[in-house]
Amino acid sequence: MSDVTIYVCKTCGFKQDGEVTYTGESLLAATDQAANGMEGISVRPVSCMNNCDRGCTVAFTGPGKLTYVFGDFSSDDIAVDLAAYAEIYRDREGGAVKLGERPQGLKGKIVTRVPPFGFSGFPVMDPKDAEADA
Ligand code: FES
Repeated sequence: MSDVTIYVCKTCGFKQDGEVTYTGESLLAATDQAANGMEGISVRPVSCMNNCDRGCTVAFTGPGKLTYVFGDFSSDDIAVDLAAYAEIYRDREGGAVKLGERPQGLKGKIVTRVPPFGFSGFPVMDPKDAEADA
């Protein structure tokens, strides 16, 4: 098990009809509360991950792990799922989490998956598990 970080974009805004209806500041606070006391999991604010059109944005990263970026979060309700996902992610060597293992609220929300620093070959995960995530 290695320590992992949940980066929450505090400058994001989820928009409906052009109006911001939910903010990254809210998501940051809710996620920090949901993950409070979880071993090896830190929640950190970040200002913009260049996913503004799909905010609110969250990234999961850790040493030797895939980095996962998710977006389109629109309420505090997702915070419990983010914390639950972080525990699964923390416990997976390489950070690969299959679609079927993801909490329901994260399904359809993935933006991208980035190989860990120094990675030199495929696969980190079986391509059939990488799924389209639609
Ligand atoms: S403001 Fe959050 S990704 Fe740009």
